[in-house]
Amino acid sequence: MDVHQAADIRLFDKRKTAALILAVLIGPFAAAHAAEIDGEAAFNNACRTCHSVKAGDNRLGPHLHGIVGRKAGAAEGFAYSAAMDGSFSWDEAKLDGFIADPEKTVPGNTMKPFTGIDDAITRKAIIDFLKGS
Ligand code: HEC
Repeated sequence: MDVHQAADIRLFDKRKTAALILAVLIGPFAAAHAAEIDGEAAFNNACRTCHSVKAGDNRLGPHLHGIVGRKAGAAEGFAYSAAMDGSFSWDEAKLDGFIADPEKTVPGNTMKPFTGIDDAITRKAIIDFLKGS
């Protein structure tokens, strides 16, 4: 083996090592993202300060029991803003938009100071949890 060959081999090993380090660093994040996010835990984190999923249990926000498929503004006894005028129902797409960006999806709503969840996987997990509640 001449000097050049030896240098090539060392370079190759360095690249392999770099790739391995990268895989070890990124691996856990990729795995955490792919794994099921616990929708109930995510709901508890982001929504439960203001919402319950128990029928009739209005707090700072209206109860969200059976919210998927429910008409907007329909929780009895809750003082909604004019934005929740019952002109639409909460299907999954509408909920996803609302949780991502409340003001853009239902302008003038008073769900403040909640400003939205950017991560689509977390939103989906919350909606799946709400579907079953
Ligand atoms: C700071 C308190 C607060 C937080 C946090 C909050 N909300 Fe709300 N939410 C409200 C209020 C207040 C309203 C009523 C808004 C209105 O009348 O315009 C509302 C309304 C809603 C509605 C409409 C209900 C209906 O009957 O039409 C949905 C759906 C909803 N919230 C889902 C969520 C979800 C899901 C989360 C968590 C990702 C969340 N909210 C976080 C306070 C909050």
